[in-house]
Amino acid sequence: MNQNYIQPDNWSIIEEGFNAERVKSSESLFSIGNGAMGQRANFEETYSGPTFQGNYIAGVYYPDKTRVGWWKNGYPEYFAKVLNAPNWIGINVSINGEKLDLYTCKEILDFRRELNMQEGWYERSFRAVLKNNTEIIVKSTRFLSLDLDEVGAIKYQVTPLNKDVVIDFESYLDAGITNEDTNWDDKFWDTYEVSHKGNTAYISSKTLKTEFHVCTGMHNQLFVDEKAQNLTPTIETTKTYVSLGYAVEVAKGKTAVLHKFGGCTVSLNHKPENIASANTAVLKQASESGFDALLGLQKQAWSKIWEMADIIIDGDVSAQQGIRFNIFQLNQTYLGKDARLNIGPKGFTGEKYGGSTYWDTEAYCLPFYMATKNQKVARSLLKYRYNHLNKAIENAEKLGFTDGAALYPMVTMNGEECHNEWEITFQEIHRNGAMIYAIHNYVRYTGDYSYIPEMGLEVMIAVARFWHQRATFSLHKDAYVILGVTGPNEYENNINNNWYTNYLAKWCIEYCIENIEKVKLQYPSDYDRISKKTNLKQEEIDAMLNVAEKMYFPYSEKYQIYLQQDGFLDKELITVDQLDKSQRPINQKWSWDRILRSPYIKQADVLQGFYMFEDQFTKDKLKKHFDFYEPFTVHESSLSPCVHSIQAAVLDRIDQAYAFYLRTSRLDLDDYNKEVEEGLHITSMAGTWMSIVEGFGGLRVKNDTLSFTPKIPKEWKGYAFNVNFRNNILKVNVSENSTTFSLEGTKELSIYVNDKEFTIFPNRLMTV
Ligand code: BGC
Repeated sequence: MNQNYIQPDNWSIIEEGFNAERVKSSESLFSIGNGAMGQRANFEETYSGPTFQGNYIAGVYYPDKTRVGWWKNGYPEYFAKVLNAPNWIGINVSINGEKLDLYTCKEILDFRRELNMQEGWYERSFRAVLKNNTEIIVKSTRFLSLDLDEVGAIKYQVTPLNKDVVIDFESYLDAGITNEDTNWDDKFWDTYEVSHKGNTAYISSKTLKTEFHVCTGMHNQLFVDEKAQNLTPTIETTKTYVSLGYAVEVAKGKTAVLHKFGGCTVSLNHKPENIASANTAVLKQASESGFDALLGLQKQAWSKIWEMADIIIDGDVSAQQGIRFNIFQLNQTYLGKDARLNIGPKGFTGEKYGGSTYWDTEAYCLPFYMATKNQKVARSLLKYRYNHLNKAIENAEKLGFTDGAALYPMVTMNGEECHNEWEITFQEIHRNGAMIYAIHNYVRYTGDYSYIPEMGLEVMIAVARFWHQRATFSLHKDAYVILGVTGPNEYENNINNNWYTNYLAKWCIEYCIENIEKVKLQYPSDYDRISKKTNLKQEEIDAMLNVAEKMYFPYSEKYQIYLQQDGFLDKELITVDQLDKSQRPINQKWSWDRILRSPYIKQADVLQGFYMFEDQFTKDKLKKHFDFYEPFTVHESSLSPCVHSIQAAVLDRIDQAYAFYLRTSRLDLDDYNKEVEEGLHITSMAGTWMSIVEGFGGLRVKNDTLSFTPKIPKEWKGYAFNVNFRNNILKVNVSENSTTFSLEGTKELSIYVNDKEFTIFPNRLMTV
């Protein structure tokens, strides 16, 4: 049974009632972020029960030395992990000398959490009876500011209900933190300054090896019964900790409120010697505006995001809550303001996957950012990889490739390969193709061809060179084969001729050559620069083309399908529906050996190729492949259900598309894969967006024009989404019988609906 404790609501994620077993899951689900930093929904006050502390800063990582039994050449030196950063949210609370701790107190009533996605804040409230029989109400509201993205704010309120009390607030900063997921129990931080002045305190630390300097600061304001208290705090410090303590008498029924402003300034954005003064300045600005004013700005900023990114689903709260949760979390993770950053699969909600960049960005996230933000955001995601091209060439050199061939990393922070799982991740060379597919997708959607002569072509040449060198000519098959790979389906390792990889390799080479010709003709000076820089010769182009033309694809005449890899049909082909539920998820129940020899597919693999290159296959072919592979698919990667939802919609199987939609959109809320306590699946959330816009809405770009084939699940009365297509904001509203389009701006736009052409005029509704 999946978890089902999240209350249905259109705009909020709500939990009611306290259950210690859910704390870690809720810490993930109620996470907050602002693109520059983020944190799990840890309690501010002491909690002695099981919890997973997490507070992360974008771009700040540590190269954790690789740990393996036997070292082999080609292993990455380190695994880059986004670090648990010094914590500023902590507030220990004592009532008449007894520490408030929800794990040990006598009784907890009315416990409630709300993550308000419309306005961008998180709130937790409860009534507790302590062992000393004091009954209190606590309410804490917290957000990370979008406007001042180095700052967050907490409003922590305590009301004694049955007696007058003395409340001790101990508001602290703690740099003595560790990661759960470390290879060697290394120390990651060196704290070199702890200081305080009045109601403000700071800790300055730097990461070991990478030398990111971070100043974490706080400023406190205390009110009792709405009156500001001018108390001199009691101070406690250690080498990695500072607290400011306030003791106040609070009469029964009155409320003590602590406003805590905190956050971090980082050497990515300031000179190391200025991080403390920058922190002072930003905390001053935040605290002088005050909690309520800052929250007001927060609401406005989120309302702007929603104006463009919202998807409205009419008549299905569960589906509505799911999609908004996905859109909200994506925006909490990455806003496209800083081209050095990217989208980690767990964002700021956990440690696994280290906050690093995966192929997920190119294969899954790009469409969401292209359509819901300014075009520059998608361009900077592409540029991120262009900036890493030299490192990708070095990565390939380390593996024995030459002459400018590039292998992009499967996992990276700075362009270097830094995965932690050799046998699976290393061989997923298919990620190299996703880099090129993203360029194609970007140019197709935005019409901005200039990216290719400026940057993209160099990436294409380096990647095409890799495929050329990686393929082996098989005399036996009289074709090029690609041996020893792992496809997107990570439940098969070290296989030969993964169809998806071979297909992508061929396509990358052909697309590269097509663009070489185009740039040569249309951008001759760029072509000169690039061909000199890359030392590109016609003989090499011819040789690459030969590989593409003679690429081998495993095929079954019997089933009339491409085989996921050589030998797939030798497996014992028992479909997933015949597996006992107690065996699922197989990655938690079965040995790796059993998984590898089973036919079970973790995520779209052949179907990933059919999704990306849809135009190149007929609907009938898609049907055959879907019907063969989906029954063996366990969808144990978060990236799986969205692709299947889109394809089921193409095949007019709307009920099935809807089931996959719920699975992708509520993957974390309902914890389908039983791992939400480790963090959320951020990158697949962009896939959820695709499953509505591309799946039910049927959005495609065909010949420089948007095309739609709207469909609607029977559970919905209607749904609406917006897309920014080449600076035209198009609003699409689908109901059971019609689809309405409206356009902002001054220019008209031609679109296709169910293959018929229509022109939409600005500010006029058009109904089809
Ligand atoms: C998936 C990969 C993905 C990674 C990060 C894995 O479980 O199989 O395709 O890149 O998660 O999201």
